[in-house]
Amino acid sequence: MKFETKTFILNDGREALLRLPTEADAEAMLDYLRITAGETDFLLRYPEECDKMYSLEAEKRIIERIVASETDLMLVCTVDGEIAGVCNLMFNTRMKTRHIAKVAIGNVKKYWGLGMGTRMMEELISIAEKREGVIQLELEFIEGNHRARALYEKLGFRITGVHPNAIMLKDGTLLNEYLMARPLKNGA
Ligand SMILES: CC(C)(COP(=O)(O)OP(=O)(O)OC[C@H]1O[C@@H](n2cnc3c(N)ncnc32)[C@H](O)[C@@H]1OP(=O)(O)O)[C@@H](O)C(=O)NCCC(=O)NCCS
Repeated sequence: MKFETKTFILNDGREALLRLPTEADAEAMLDYLRITAGETDFLLRYPEECDKMYSLEAEKRIIERIVASETDLMLVCTVDGEIAGVCNLMFNTRMKTRHIAKVAIGNVKKYWGLGMGTRMMEELISIAEKREGVIQLELEFIEGNHRARALYEKLGFRITGVHPNAIMLKDGTLLNEYLMARPLKNGA
């Protein structure tokens, strides 16, 4: 999917760049996956799973596939040349569900609270708003992720369902996952 690189200013005055990834980002993307997985329990992966799941070559192919895709969009947000966050927008393709799109986001902890998540999510919402026939955006968050929930509610998402015990942490803790949805202009 095409995307024209955008810049914006973080709350601390630094410039952030929101752009499509390239194959040259593959190594930094693997670091990003490991770092973010270790910083929070609110993403689906543990750091050690990243090494098993993604080799450098596999990551390059994933980037290549996503950049060429007309239904999946991945954007990286960089600050001072470093990957500070990644977000995804996925459009469904089946006739019965193609009115719905899904979003996901994960930012490196040292960049939290700088307005980056808001700016990234606003961009995905704006892209989804322009896609013909798509009337609803959806996402999930894990129980206890107050920061994510606040971000999503601020941007118009509302809880629509709960997946009980969707997550089991290493220590056996069970957590629910909440489904959120947000109507888009196409559906108004
Ligand atoms: C959730 C996440 C994407 C938010 O990104 P961010 O860059 O910190 O977002 P912002 O700085 O734009 O803040 C967004 C909102 O979070 C809320 N927020 C900020 N700090 C908060 C805190 N300490 N406690 C609760 N909510 C907080 C506020 O509502 C804020 O909006 P506001 O500043 O206009 O009031 C980011 O924390 C993250 O990547 N977390 C780890 C991975 C994750 O949980 N991903 C989401 C999976 S569903």
